Amino acid sequence: MVTLTQTTTRQGFFAPGRFEADVFDCEVQGGKIPEDLNGAFVRVGGEFFYPSMYPNDGGFSVDGYISMFRFKKGIVDYRGRWVKTPRWKANRAANRQLFGNYRNPFFDDPSVKGLDRTVANTAVVAHAGKLFALKEDALPYEINPKTLETIGPWDFNGKYKSETFTAHPRWDPVTGDMITYGYEASGLLTNDIYVCVVDKHGNVKNETRFKAPYLSMMHDMVLTEKHLVFPMGGYVTNMKRLKANKVHWGWDKSAPGYIGILPRDGDGKDVRWFKTPLTAAVHVFGGRTVGNKVIIEAGLYNSNPFPFFENTDGSPFDPTKTTCYLHRQTFDLNSKRDGFEDEIIFSDPASDLGKIDDRYTGQAYREIFTTYADPKRPFDEARAGNLRGRVSNCYGRFDLGTKKITPLFAGNTHSLQESTFVPKSKNAPEGEGYLMGVASNYAEMRAELIIADAQSMTELARVILPFRSSAALHGKWMGDDELDFG
Ligand SMILES: [Fe+2]
Repeated sequence: MVTLTQTTTRQGFFAPGRFEADVFDCEVQGGKIPEDLNGAFVRVGGEFFYPSMYPNDGGFSVDGYISMFRFKKGIVDYRGRWVKTPRWKANRAANRQLFGNYRNPFFDDPSVKGLDRTVANTAVVAHAGKLFALKEDALPYEINPKTLETIGPWDFNGKYKSETFTAHPRWDPVTGDMITYGYEASGLLTNDIYVCVVDKHGNVKNETRFKAPYLSMMHDMVLTEKHLVFPMGGYVTNMKRLKANKVHWGWDKSAPGYIGILPRDGDGKDVRWFKTPLTAAVHVFGGRTVGNKVIIEAGLYNSNPFPFFENTDGSPFDPTKTTCYLHRQTFDLNSKRDGFEDEIIFSDPASDLGKIDDRYTGQAYREIFTTYADPKRPFDEARAGNLRGRVSNCYGRFDLGTKKITPLFAGNTHSLQESTFVPKSKNAPEGEGYLMGVASNYAEMRAELIIADAQSMTELARVILPFRSSAALHGKWMGDDELDFG
């Protein structure tokens, strides 16, 4: 999944685009756009505008590109803009890449010493009327929702006290608070985690700090009604690596895995670390606190899925060891032991790039929407290349109650990106609404936005872009009541 969407191969469907775009009243095939969809499906991802300085740099360093499908009364417009960070502007001014490997400033071109190195390429969020592009190595970058032009970094009026901000904050569905965090919070190679609550008006109202057992990637977290859950482990870094011009993370399969649980009404000293056999936890779907138990669901890889984070033991990357399964993990807070229960809840592999109905954040939910590769589906290799079995070709509604997967097949020349669930109305039952996500059509060399009924998983319409588009990582639906898109 990742190797295709974030490849540094600059040819074919993945050749550099280097353009920005406005498409008005996009072509729609297969049906009509539901008229109750008013807002925008906003995504961010990217590609290397200029090739990386060093051959080992990978997908995490691609230049951010923010785009939106703007829905208004059954019409869809598209807009795409580069996230114009100081790094992007410096590269453009020099007409070349000036920045070295991922989160390693020591081999940058001397002309950019001290400049913010972020590419703001990972996720988009809206909070308190502002739109942000996020990457976990820096502050959020504020974006103008009408133009998608970049405004600049945002530190919440100087009240946010970390140099970094996760790509995956969460929202309390009752209070509207944004609960967020940063790791390497005090700067490069520091081992502290900063947790912060921002109220629905955008004001920092609570914060705390704690230390991880060791410095590792902490890409995502779970918010429950009473706890924050932080999986980590396997990814390691140190000054020796950076001074050897390596990318920030290496994968150490002998490193321990941990899951930290922090009570929301406590502070950093109350964090409790549970030990886990090492899996690569990148994204988590959600979870809840039930009595003295914390339960989470997550897609876990049995090894590092990112080929650009090399194995520290020198062994080559093995894509056959990166299968992802959906797990449920149950932590007993009454227990004195540091272990927990772990079960695989679907026997078929799936992607960790999935979503629940956000209104059920922190509570019990029944459905997970995610992508997966079904090797039994047809793939037209003559038109789309030799990618059979290597692309996600289905969206699935994974029912945690019945254990049934309801699929939506995207097509025999297509590769799917992350999907997003959009409730039909504020008070609609869980899962009643729309599923939308972008497919890369390798044969037609174009991007297609799929809009489906999220219950029946039947396609309602497909928005056609007249060009291929670099893969986005994460997207989010933002209604007209959240942001002013103009
Ligand atoms: Fe992510």
